[in-house]
Amino acid sequence: MTAKILIVDDDADIVAMLEDRLRSLGYSTVAARDGREALEQIAQESPHLVLLDLTLPKLSGLDVLKQLNRSKHTDALPIVVMTAHGSIGAAVEAMKEGAYDFLTKPLEKDHLLIVIRKALERDSLRRQVAYLRSEVAGRYASIVGNSPSVQSVVEAAQRAAKSDAGVLLLGESGTGKELFARSIHQWSPRQAMPLIVINCVALTETLLENELFGHERGAFTGADRQQKGKLEMADGGTVFLDEIGDMPLPLQAKLLRVLQDREFHRVGGSKNVSVNIRVIAATNKDIKKSVKAGQFREDLYFRLNVITLTLPPLRERRGDIAALAQFFLDRHAKDAKRPGMTLSPAALDALTRYPWPGNIRELDNTIARAVVLSPTDSIEPSMLSLLPEDAGLGASDSGQLPYLDLPYHESMAEHGRYIIDRAIERANGNQTKAAEFLKLQRTYLLRLIKQRKSKEE
Ligand SMILES: Nc1ncnc2c1ncn2[C@@H]1O[C@H](COP(=O)(O)OP(=O)(O)OP(=O)(O)O)[C@@H](O)[C@H]1O
Ligand SMILES: [Mg+2]
Repeated sequence: MTAKILIVDDDADIVAMLEDRLRSLGYSTVAARDGREALEQIAQESPHLVLLDLTLPKLSGLDVLKQLNRSKHTDALPIVVMTAHGSIGAAVEAMKEGAYDFLTKPLEKDHLLIVIRKALERDSLRRQVAYLRSEVAGRYASIVGNSPSVQSVVEAAQRAAKSDAGVLLLGESGTGKELFARSIHQWSPRQAMPLIVINCVALTETLLENELFGHERGAFTGADRQQKGKLEMADGGTVFLDEIGDMPLPLQAKLLRVLQDREFHRVGGSKNVSVNIRVIAATNKDIKKSVKAGQFREDLYFRLNVITLTLPPLRERRGDIAALAQFFLDRHAKDAKRPGMTLSPAALDALTRYPWPGNIRELDNTIARAVVLSPTDSIEPSMLSLLPEDAGLGASDSGQLPYLDLPYHESMAEHGRYIIDRAIERANGNQTKAAEFLKLQRTYLLRLIKQRKSKEE
């Protein structure tokens, strides 16, 4: 799409010259001869940028700006004013009224182009940010489920959102901890400021420290400039410490200090940096047990845990499964451009009975897969690839497990492969979590995966 520029000037020669120049550069243009017409064109044509002469008949350029201000238009629309040479005062006044920049006449070609390009770039970034914000908000806007256990957590979360108290979210994997963390931020007075997510499991201790606190120039080889950490980026907003139960002990001590003093220094620095942050933390670990075992600092636990919200596993609120399944079906069918899809009664029944070890995330993935794979618009149970609860390998339907008819050793090897793939999928690719599902040491799981890869080669 080419950017559309509105040229406002009562001098026909200038309008013609600008139209010529801007069109030759690929922009499309519209023109207005006076202030009133300018306002009309802005409303009708929604230009991406306005070049506005200040001395105009009917309504002056400054009045146009003031009117737009009143209708809250200038935030969105970059306006570059044009003034006669030597009338800097008018330009300054226009900038105060929200103009993006100014040009003096006679217009200088290169300068004109630079200013236009910069203004359009900023406008496009602003639109992208607005779009992404609404996307993220949309993704996280809806907490589906009417069961009393979820509703009481929602109410508690809404109350907690009003304060700055630390919130600790507990619950099995895939129960919606991140969704709640984001919702609390959205409901809080800090919602216009950033929400910064820090994953405490993914990083080594040194990297995590760097990520949290940032570093000064020269702090280590390769640190060629100062870099702000995530705590600093979150200033005024919320920090979400995900998988806090996996944070290494030495870092826990440092984090505790930040939470107490709201102050820290960057890696390799000595200057105090102070921040105003609200902290929400989450873990699927039994953190009390970690405290008893000496793996988690008790003082930090108390700091984080001013308000605890525990999200129930899906199998304990089966009443929500139908609504959640429909919610994910609508979303994925829309993404896949298959709007007419439905769940057959048998499929819905199977979903309601399944134990959902991977909780809502697993349900989400199951529906996503079924939407893609189902040959018909009505999703049948066979498309859900759920393992029957009691039948172990699901021997009744060897169509789902094609390796069942292989010789013993090959079949067992295939089955090993199947459950590993399934666990990794359920854990959204996170091997540490997949190992937890399978109750295996992570290193052992990695060895199994490696062995299999080398066999395949
Ligand atoms: N009540 C709900 N309504 C709609 N979607 C939900 C709900 N709860 C969770 N989800 C969705 O389920 C998925 C998993 O949720 P989320 O990532 O918040 O879980 P989690 O507890 O952080 O999981 P993990 O411990 O694995 O990180 C997300 O796509 C989320 O949007
Ligand atoms: Mg999570």
